[in-house]
Amino acid sequence: MAKDDNLPLFETKLAKGRILFQFYSLLIFVGTCFIFAYRLSHIPAKGEPGRWAWIGLFFSELWFCFYWFVTTVVRWNPIYRNTFKDRLSHRYEKALPGIDIFVCTADPVIEPPVMVINTVLSVMAYDYPPEKLSVYLSDDGGSDLTFYAMLEASRFSKIWLPFCKKFKLEPRSPEAYFRTAVEPLGEPVLAKEWSTVKMLYEDMKKRIENTTKLGQISEEISKEHKGFNEWILVASRHDHQTILQILIDGRDSEAMDIQGQPLPTLVYLAREKRTQYHHHFKAGAMNALIRVSSGISNSPIILNVDCDMYSNNSKSVRDGLCFFMDEEKGNKVGFVQFPQAFENITKNDVYSSSLNVTMQMEMPGFDGNGGPCYIGTGCLHRREALSGKKYNKNFMEDWKRWSNRSVEESTRVLEETSKVLASCNYEENTQWGKEIGVKYDSAVEDVLTGLAIQCRGWRSIYFSPERKGFLGVAPTTLLQSLVQHRRWSDGDFQIFASRHCPFVLGYKNIPLKLQLSYCIYPLWAPTSLTTLYYVIVPSLCLLKGISLFPQIHGFLHLYLSSFSTVHIALENVFGLGAHSRAGGMIKGCGYTEEQLPTFLACWTIS
Ligand SMILES: *[C@@H]1O[C@H](CO)[C@@H](O)[C@H](O)[C@H]1NC(C)=O
Ligand SMILES: *[C@@H]1O[C@H](CO)[C@@H](O)[C@H](O)[C@H]1NC(C)=O
Ligand SMILES: *[C@@H]1O[C@H](CO)[C@@H](O)[C@H](O)[C@H]1NC(C)=O
Repeated sequence: MAKDDNLPLFETKLAKGRILFQFYSLLIFVGTCFIFAYRLSHIPAKGEPGRWAWIGLFFSELWFCFYWFVTTVVRWNPIYRNTFKDRLSHRYEKALPGIDIFVCTADPVIEPPVMVINTVLSVMAYDYPPEKLSVYLSDDGGSDLTFYAMLEASRFSKIWLPFCKKFKLEPRSPEAYFRTAVEPLGEPVLAKEWSTVKMLYEDMKKRIENTTKLGQISEEISKEHKGFNEWILVASRHDHQTILQILIDGRDSEAMDIQGQPLPTLVYLAREKRTQYHHHFKAGAMNALIRVSSGISNSPIILNVDCDMYSNNSKSVRDGLCFFMDEEKGNKVGFVQFPQAFENITKNDVYSSSLNVTMQMEMPGFDGNGGPCYIGTGCLHRREALSGKKYNKNFMEDWKRWSNRSVEESTRVLEETSKVLASCNYEENTQWGKEIGVKYDSAVEDVLTGLAIQCRGWRSIYFSPERKGFLGVAPTTLLQSLVQHRRWSDGDFQIFASRHCPFVLGYKNIPLKLQLSYCIYPLWAPTSLTTLYYVIVPSLCLLKGISLFPQIHGFLHLYLSSFSTVHIALENVFGLGAHSRAGGMIKGCGYTEEQLPTFLACWTIS
């Protein structure tokens, strides 16, 4: 036994500068108390103008203060994680568990097939034993164009995977790689292969784009695979039978790349859709995938990514496993969430799409308070936790028990038997969507599902490495950004107002500070009302010559203005500036980060 055999597979670090932040929050708190004291002692008497505006302002400030308290709870104690992949590899390389990777797409127009297969290829090329990887694409668009692209991808993977592994390329999405890579002219061996592979990729891309532009599969292509026959029966994308095609069957000894190495399993699924059944959007697709994959590969760990989020780091699954397989703390881990990161941020990030504050500060804060929420993409789940199992403290994962895939059934038979699992009526009178799998009836099914997993006793982990694990595309126009934020605010608020409210569901199940943390996003929506009030009413009053802000002199003024300055400085030091400057404005309901200071700033300027 080597001497590092008892060392943990990951470490946890407390954030630097916590004390400074905590002290600073205390200062804000004192400043706020001064303001309340003033508001209460100077209420205009009955009959005087501005009495109601004044009282309204007081309540707005009270709300801001409460919301500020919630955000401060979240940010009080952030923690950061670090993994030791060499220890993982040293101890478990031969016994690594299987991983099922789910990629969800819904529309071949909004999500072009070329983008989808780039994501698929990037996860197929993980630095992981390929026979233990299975990649599932759920196509809710039920499109033969996407199927065609997957067929092309399954062929190209035979060249792409060995190429990536031989030259240790990063990132492993061909599009992203060839966009930034420079031709390696200095190394003749690499250079030759490089230009061949690049050409093959460009050809494939053109073929797919041509077909996509055409909008239908030519007769020639449809002869290339039996799967195209399925579309003969498809009436429309909302009305069709289950289409399930195992494009690469990892059990098949002939499924090999050009170097003779095994390939990951690759499955295309368009679950059954009928107009009389509700399909439950992405949650429904995820649940169909959970069931179908349990019949095919049944891996203990599930990674799910959106089709526009390619893997930027071929070691991410190993990172995730360091948490699940840690001998001491691993058994309690239900899911490991990676940050959402984007490569498509507009100049100065005017729409605040990078989600910097959320990803760099609030999620580590959640982790410090008991575990991050699940944000729907870039997340590794323990299959059992996702399938509704409760954690109990004697639970010990036995990774070996999962690794017995039957080799008897032929691919054809396996396809047929698995189809049933994706049919519309499979979930009737079951707990799917309620206690099992991803939850239904919410616009933010991910957050709700994560909360439920935590309430069943599992711990979640936030892991944000320097080099991002997954990169996606962010909204680049105001309209897209507004639509997205409206959906989030709306969905989160619905959770709060329902029986899934963190205080109800989480009562006695998760720590109070985590229950409070979960309120931070649901309260965006109501906060927008007070913000509007705060922006509109004082201006109207000013037009009528009524001032709702006092002339402050002396000590108080000095106090308030100095910490507004400190606040701005801190924000810029932490690189969060862009967020509050523009982000808060378009969101209206944005983050408090600027709200409390906005109203303090009003006081200071007045
Ligand atoms: C794509 O379509 C164009 C014409 O629309 C044609 O010239 C070209 O050869 C096609 N490319 C491939 C790879 O099929
Ligand atoms: C963002 O993505 C769009 C396509 O989704 C692309 O046309 C555009 O060039 C990208 N912009 C940046 C800055 O990467
Ligand atoms: C993505 O990966 C590349 C290396 O392949 C790295 O240089 C880059 O910084 C990564 N991007 C992000 C946003 O972390």
